[in-house]
Amino acid sequence: MPDPATFPDTLEAVRYVEGWMTPGQARLLWDSAREVPAGGRIVEIGSFRGRSTIVLARAADPTVEVVAIDPHGGNDRGPQELAGFTAEAAEDHAVFNENLENAGVRDRVRHVRAWSSAAHPEVDDPLDLLYIDGAHRYGPALADIRDWGDRVRPGGTMLIHDSFSSIGVTLALARHLFASPTWHYVGREGSMTEYRREGRRRDAKARAANLARHCRALPWFVRNLAIKGLLVAHLKPVTRLLGYDQEMVWPH
Ligand SMILES: C[S@@+](CC[C@H](N)C(=O)[O-])C[C@H]1O[C@@H](n2cnc3c(N)ncnc32)[C@H](O)[C@@H]1O
Repeated sequence: MPDPATFPDTLEAVRYVEGWMTPGQARLLWDSAREVPAGGRIVEIGSFRGRSTIVLARAADPTVEVVAIDPHGGNDRGPQELAGFTAEAAEDHAVFNENLENAGVRDRVRHVRAWSSAAHPEVDDPLDLLYIDGAHRYGPALADIRDWGDRVRPGGTMLIHDSFSSIGVTLALARHLFASPTWHYVGREGSMTEYRREGRRRDAKARAANLARHCRALPWFVRNLAIKGLLVAHLKPVTRLLGYDQEMVWPH
């Protein structure tokens, strides 16, 4: 890896690493990791084959701890792969290690091979940057946002993939973040939402403004659901009418 790593080099390094993170989302991960102060801590939930992990590890200061939590267990592996992908997940684990090695960050990342709900004792407080891209079903997505989000320090950042794209993730956002007294919705890059942890509880006016900002993304959510419906019905060409990038396999 060049020293220091640059964003264009890093984008090139993950070019052939399988995953769903777009270049714009890689940039948001990169910029967020760059802002983590020396001696800080980054936690990623859901690493798959290392596409986002590599970006975080290459961007972070060498003194920042980078923790990647993924059981590589076969459940909630990716779009429409909710259970029973054990063989593929075993391969994910081997390919994850190989990809990190090739990108020069094998020693920069501490991989916790566990479900996120069981991984809490493996990680110290506080977190400066939390990236959530694990299970997308409502229950586990809510638990990640609530329980791991609670461990982010005031002023810290939480990024969540598949927001306003996955139904489970979006319901979890609605439940815990839309009108949150402690999380400020900064904005989104595609389906990657960005939140800042507030130092103190916000008043009703600030919470209503947060809710309104979230609501502006709802038409985009409806569009994504329509695209997914068309893709499942094997009507991909029709998604063109909704401005969908034909190179993408799933809306992100
Ligand atoms: C969408 S992929 C992550 C993609 C990755 N962030 C990237 O950029 O390529 C989801 C991953 O989450 C993992 N996963 C599923 N449930 C999880 C859980 N409860 N805790 C941690 N990881 C989980 C899966 O094993 C899978 O590798």
